[in-house]
Amino acid sequence: MSILVCGGAGFIGSHTVLELINRGEEVVIVDNLITGHKEAVLSGKLYIGNLCDSEFMDKVFKENNIEAVIDFAAFSLVSESVKQPLDYYENNVYGTLCLLKKMKEYGINKIVFSSTAAIYGEPESIPIKEDDRTLPTNPYGETKLAVERMLKWCDKAYGIKYVALRYFNVAGADLSGRIGEDHRPETHLIPLILQVPLGKRDKVTIFGDDYPTKDGTCIRDYIHVIDLADAHIRALNKLRKDNTSTIYNLGNGEGFTVKEVIDVARKVTGHPITSVVAERREGDPAKLVASSEKIIRELKWIPKHNTLEEIIETAWNWHKNHPNGFLH
Ligand code: UFG
Repeated sequence: MSILVCGGAGFIGSHTVLELINRGEEVVIVDNLITGHKEAVLSGKLYIGNLCDSEFMDKVFKENNIEAVIDFAAFSLVSESVKQPLDYYENNVYGTLCLLKKMKEYGINKIVFSSTAAIYGEPESIPIKEDDRTLPTNPYGETKLAVERMLKWCDKAYGIKYVALRYFNVAGADLSGRIGEDHRPETHLIPLILQVPLGKRDKVTIFGDDYPTKDGTCIRDYIHVIDLADAHIRALNKLRKDNTSTIYNLGNGEGFTVKEVIDVARKVTGHPITSVVAERREGDPAKLVASSEKIIRELKWIPKHNTLEEIIETAWNWHKNHPNGFLH
């Protein structure tokens, strides 16, 4: 039987596909390649199309014996979501609704879903736990929370069991250096910092240094994409084993300021990396740090690549060998 990975040509999806294949799983990938790259799919059977194209999805489900679904297919940029909320609702909520309808039609009752720390909004306390208040401050977070709620009702009505994984700040790249992070446009801190030593920009901009943190810049919890991929496989195996729904946070439990991230990147790359301070970016909470205690306890998940050095080293290894990302 196969695992259907929706959005498997994207950054996190492609790393999870690789990890599934490494562990002997059969993998079928669906991606419309709007933000994904077919070069990121190193193995598995790739279908290019949309989750809401009913005939296309019938073909995928009929041609393969699908056991479970891992769903990464979504738009994921906070600032873009504020400008284009309807695109986010359409792609993230309606897209997953179409997928769930097909799962119901074909009797598939297991899904691992990509959720986000953005569903918490401004946290009440740090580290953030799964049952803390969810009050998103942007449409991206709202769409992910809407799907989490949809999943809860689909479990009750149709018996579709889910694990929702709420990611904090994902970065890094596969250790083999074959795949990495290539967003267009790029808005994430670590790949933007690395564009300076690559010669693609002359400086990195720090969005605000007047936050109530130790050096005034925002604190985030960075997690290696490989550790995240491992968590998806553990979530899948949990569904296989006990067939119950749940939600887990995924971070390292340690926060780094923007300035600290830039400093580590200077060390890793040996480049001075010029930075300038600008205005705050709208909607950025001062501090987001996860408690991942629940997944550590229940699924024995242990992040293996949890130092910021390793996260940035593996990202740098990919970027310096692929200065144009997946474009040749
Ligand atoms: N930042 C800068 N300069 C930049 C880019 C980012 O100072 O050029 C700062 C941001 O203000 C923020 C931090 O670096 O404080 C991290 O920013 P990212 O854009 O890399 O990531 P976000 O924390 O905004 O969001 C990411 C994902 C979301 C997810 C969130 C959960 O993009 O999808 O993590 O923590 F919801």
